[in-house]
Amino acid sequence: MPKGKILVTRSLPGKALDRLREAGYQVEVHEGLFLPREDLLKRVEGAIGLIPTVEDRIDAEVMDRAPGLKVIACYSVGVDHVDLEAAKARGIRVTHTPGVLTEATADLTLALLLAVARRVVEGVDHARRGLWRAWHPELLLGMDLQGATLGIVGMGRIGQAVAKRAEAFGMRVVYTSRTPKPLPYPHRSLEELLATSDIVSLHTPLTPETHRLMNRERLFAMRPGSILINTARGGLVDTEALVEALKGHLFGAGLDVTDPEPLPPGHPLYTLPNAVITPHIGSAGRRTRERMAEIAVENLLFALEGREPPNPVV
Ligand code: DGY
Repeated sequence: MPKGKILVTRSLPGKALDRLREAGYQVEVHEGLFLPREDLLKRVEGAIGLIPTVEDRIDAEVMDRAPGLKVIACYSVGVDHVDLEAAKARGIRVTHTPGVLTEATADLTLALLLAVARRVVEGVDHARRGLWRAWHPELLLGMDLQGATLGIVGMGRIGQAVAKRAEAFGMRVVYTSRTPKPLPYPHRSLEELLATSDIVSLHTPLTPETHRLMNRERLFAMRPGSILINTARGGLVDTEALVEALKGHLFGAGLDVTDPEPLPPGHPLYTLPNAVITPHIGSAGRRTRERMAEIAVENLLFALEGREPPNPVV
């Protein structure tokens, strides 16, 4: 007799789920690329544990479909897709996977930063389309990183890992966060940071307070010819205003997350050569994603066994 049903909303890399099966749980994995809302509502019925991805909106309606639900073990560090108040009210534990994806996400942040600053995607496109016919002193001129100021918004683990990498490229790092930290970088107000940075990189969670943090006014308060990088959450940026800012004010943007996400085909952002967009792959190193699965499973098992999970949110 299985101990109870665990719904996993996507297949996960690695062997972490075997641990749940070995522990006697009935593990139900949704194998498709999407899990439509109606299917989620149906499949969650009877579950005592849920491992959702950032694509699944886990709200009161989902929770109420599974009155026996005890744990939501997010396969992510971000938990903006879960209604935490609704979980708390129902006595459901919520956990996440902090730390493990810090380095992978910082790596991708630098990849986007380099791609935008040095126009890598435009260069690849230029070569592939057979337009590379000669070396020219003015071909695809970009931004020099040595000596550039990188402004980091949100100086948690990922922000700090980005700062370390940026220093290796000779960048000067400044940051803004709710409270200054004992770090070797100057703390600035957001307004000062926007006015003085050549590159602004977002590393703050999406909350009602940070929703559209980069609104029209702030995007246009960035230095003319500067770069915006977002590997955190699409909802931090006003997309329409960004499209406008990219048509003259900003040098470019590197986005691993968008609002809406994914962007619909043909979206104006896809038509701008100075926007480099990747499909939310910040944590997509194989080892990182396998570790995320192990951590989610560990959290789930602890909480189901009535022990304090290693990475609690609620
Ligand atoms: C997270 O963990 O929050 C990322 O966005 C997906 O790995």
